[in-house]
Amino acid sequence: METETAQISESQQEQSVQLEISGQVAVLRLGTPDERYVTITPARMESFEQALAQLEGNTAVKGVVIIGSGPGLFCAGADINQISGVTEVSVAKSLASRGQSLFQRVAELKCTTVAAISGACVGGGYELALACDYRIASDTNEVRVGLPEINLGIIPGFGGSVRLPRLIGLPAALDIILKGRMLPAKRGLKAGLVDELIRSDGTSDKGYTALEARAKEIALGGPKPKQKSIALGEKLLTFTGIGRKMVAKEARKKAHKATGGHYPAPPRAIDVATRALGMNIKQALDIEAQALAELIITPESKSLVHVYFLTEEAGKRWKSMKDEVEGAKVAVLGAGTMGAGIAASLLGSGLDVLLVDLDDKARNRAAAHIEESLGKRFKYDAARAKSSFEHLKLDGSIDSITDAALVIEAIVEKLDVKKQVFGQLASLLPSSAILASNTSSLPISEIASDLSNPERVIGMHFFNPAEKMPLVEIVRSSQTDHRSIAFTAALASKLGKYPVVVEEVPGFLVNRILSPYLAEAAWALGDGYSIVDIDRAAVQFGMPMGPLRLLDEVGLDVAAHVAEIMSSSYGNRMETPPFTAKLASLGRLGRKSGKGFYVYEGKNGSPDPQLKDLLDLPDEPPETEPEELRDRLIMSMVNEAIRCFDEAVAGTPCRDAAGQIDLATIMGIGFAPFRGGIMRYAESVGARELLERTEKLHDRHGARFVPASGLKARAASGNASFYEPIEGSSTIQ
Ligand code: NAI
Repeated sequence: METETAQISESQQEQSVQLEISGQVAVLRLGTPDERYVTITPARMESFEQALAQLEGNTAVKGVVIIGSGPGLFCAGADINQISGVTEVSVAKSLASRGQSLFQRVAELKCTTVAAISGACVGGGYELALACDYRIASDTNEVRVGLPEINLGIIPGFGGSVRLPRLIGLPAALDIILKGRMLPAKRGLKAGLVDELIRSDGTSDKGYTALEARAKEIALGGPKPKQKSIALGEKLLTFTGIGRKMVAKEARKKAHKATGGHYPAPPRAIDVATRALGMNIKQALDIEAQALAELIITPESKSLVHVYFLTEEAGKRWKSMKDEVEGAKVAVLGAGTMGAGIAASLLGSGLDVLLVDLDDKARNRAAAHIEESLGKRFKYDAARAKSSFEHLKLDGSIDSITDAALVIEAIVEKLDVKKQVFGQLASLLPSSAILASNTSSLPISEIASDLSNPERVIGMHFFNPAEKMPLVEIVRSSQTDHRSIAFTAALASKLGKYPVVVEEVPGFLVNRILSPYLAEAAWALGDGYSIVDIDRAAVQFGMPMGPLRLLDEVGLDVAAHVAEIMSSSYGNRMETPPFTAKLASLGRLGRKSGKGFYVYEGKNGSPDPQLKDLLDLPDEPPETEPEELRDRLIMSMVNEAIRCFDEAVAGTPCRDAAGQIDLATIMGIGFAPFRGGIMRYAESVGARELLERTEKLHDRHGARFVPASGLKARAASGNASFYEPIEGSSTIQ
């Protein structure tokens, strides 16, 4: 066997591809055996180009297998660092064109080409697979196929927007591209993204050898995989001008509804995928490269790349604790709304859970909820749902918690009750066990105040619904030790969530930033703005839902209670008008009672016209500039976020702290991802303009808008960055 390493230099050996030619079959491995994460870098492209040159000149080769460098690997796409640095359309276009022409050369090889996929084959990796004649994959959990580029504010630009619609039809391809889907093996087969699955044969290489063998068989002219054909209706919608027009129109409408028109990539993806079908490959690739290039430099894409790096980093940050968390026994105390959700999340991630509640009914309700939740989570894998559920144990007594590495308490929000159960837990468990509370408002140091080892007490603040919400605030007191922080944060990462470490200030980080915004919505209502106008102003800015709708979702009783705590902790700037409390006292608790600010007869509810009389609201809003309402809502959050940054509520005030606040606001509040989080938004507006807007609001609305000292300091020092600490700000280290 002849083995060539299409090599550029020794230092770039890592990023090369390996070409092995054995008789009539060539195998192109997309990396070296040591590489665990293969991306498309310029060095790898160069190596690939050299390998292709050898194949193009070799008439003896009848088939080529393109495969990852080992079990569980293929190619995870373009190197995102390359994308983030590009600021010129011409540079971006030449990057795209280079990738396209490389894959076009694969498509034009005279022999049979087979992509053999045993790991992540996404983005540019899947675009390479699309350029092959066949795609086969191992039937293992590691496999993912799809095109996630839209999540970075761009479109597939190495031929994916052109080839996928031709392979599976336009409607199905748009579904993958616009949702950025990355499908597991079986669903990839069903959708036609792969042509055949190779059963893992139970060998330690997870079927990698069997996959390669089958790919070679196909490459040498053996039995071909049966490719999914496009149904007749889909063909008409794909390969006729009128059909494409219909699909594009519908897709544009849907995309606009889903994104509020804030993201330029979806309409562009629809345009390219649709028009490309009526063009030859050269023209089609050209419009794809142009669109990608123009999208790469948009602020929306830069913000989404910022978010991508934050999420990647969050996953890696607590890796040193990974082994300790693996297989850890966790007990959850309290099987109500939160306890059940937290238990479901733990079980779904493969952990054993003991769930304890005094109340039989609560335990039964929780068990039913957890079973349903796991069923939904593993809707394509009933056996996994069942086996995860079997790892749940229920008990009615706290005394059953004797050997947990971590207890997560989610009982009533009462300090004396929590203190009592923490005392019991401390005596039941060895001192190595970590005791976490899901409290949303109580100080961790007070919960731990009677314990002899308060360093193991911490807050793990999940959001509701705990199975779905991606943020966990890891709340530390001044006594909490590093091990407890690292363990709980690593556990949150294991659950697929983003842990952000915060101080135990009232409201912690997220509710502290959110509270003035919710209060401001109520003040605006009192000034005569309509429910529709208030919620629309927030949604138009990019929030996932308006503040009054959010209050209804949270529950007006809960919201009124939190508002009271916040205004007594922070004074004037978090004062709330009495509307929420009044509605709650009338039994209008929001969605859960069928009425709040909205009336819920249909699924979405509609604003309640009776509210005007009920709350004695003015008939008309005040006459102000059109942006005032939006500014009132958004600046109330931004001003508080700057205070949190300067007070080091999320880590020390450095680049990373701003990133942590960005991550928390996106994952906890849904703060417009295309703006990259609240601190990045503040940075994009600039301190001077923010101060100007806040001062204007301060003049009109008083104490709620006293500008943060850090905002004033930055504006005074010439728009200094929020991503850097500043002298004179009230920083607590
Ligand atoms: P819940 O009222 O739905 O459930 C509490 C459960 O704890 C009940 O089933 C009750 O029987 C049980 N319980 C009470 N005392 C107990 C004890 N001594 N031993 C064992 N079980 C006991 O409450 P929910 O909403 O789940 O809240 C729990 C905690 O999570 C609270 O601290 C709350 O502030 C916090 N939280 C709530 C959120 C929410 O949206 N509901 C969001 C984030 C945090």
